[in-house]
Amino acid sequence: MDIDLNIISFFLKTKFIGKNVIIFDEVDSTNTQARIAAERGEVNGTALISENQTAGRGRQGHSWDSHRGKDILMSVLLYPKGGKNHFLSTITLAVGVAVGRALEQAAKIQTDLKWPNDILVKGKKICGILCEGFTRNNNDCIAIGIGVNVNGRSFPKSISDKATSLSLAKGENFIREEIISQILNELEVVYSEFCLGKLDEIMKEYRSKCISIGKSVEFIKDNHKFMGIIEDISLNGELIIRTNDQKIRLNSLDKINQGIYN
Ligand code: BTN
Repeated sequence: MDIDLNIISFFLKTKFIGKNVIIFDEVDSTNTQARIAAERGEVNGTALISENQTAGRGRQGHSWDSHRGKDILMSVLLYPKGGKNHFLSTITLAVGVAVGRALEQAAKIQTDLKWPNDILVKGKKICGILCEGFTRNNNDCIAIGIGVNVNGRSFPKSISDKATSLSLAKGENFIREEIISQILNELEVVYSEFCLGKLDEIMKEYRSKCISIGKSVEFIKDNHKFMGIIEDISLNGELIIRTNDQKIRLNSLDKINQGIYN
């Protein structure tokens, strides 16, 4: 069944996020459509949802594949008052907290976070988040792209041991609209706290769910190869890694080679 806007509205409790929803049958990427929507001047909090993507994007140049009509492919367009650069590195972690909460409530599952913002269920990825900042008509904008594996039950062999869906995890199918509304509800709560500067509470929740802390990693920084243990996540969303003789901070654009990130 196609996404039904009336069902989304029924479950929606927000003031601005998801009040304007645009539904597509197929697009290149909902994040790209968010840019086009910003060009048209669509309102803050506009949600763009598609049944399918032909060029879905993941982090670090990866693609994002999905099951037509079975998953959630959504972007939320925001015009952050503090500017996109200030927001981007931390909003991306905050969104992970919001979506994790939403999936736990809507599907009664336990979720973990893998830095920066993969959502896992029993060690397998169930949701990916791609936040992109851009400028349109002199406004700083952010597209928060969220892909949730919902009712698909098979994955290509290359990722079948790393990916799961709500349906696989729980053995039942889910009403996507209910999950979408819950994500939008939680996103508004977390984003509003975030805009009020209540980052401490969000990061506390983030750290408590982040399975990356304590794991060993290998990475390249300034052309040098390092090995270390992830010790913490900073308030602005960086990994703090302890190597033999120093502490190194990595942001979500840095490339981690080995450990839990391959
Ligand atoms: C990742 O884990 O690499 C991020 C995946 C993000 C996928 C979502 S699906 C909706 C939105 N549109 C895109 O092209 N990407 C994001």
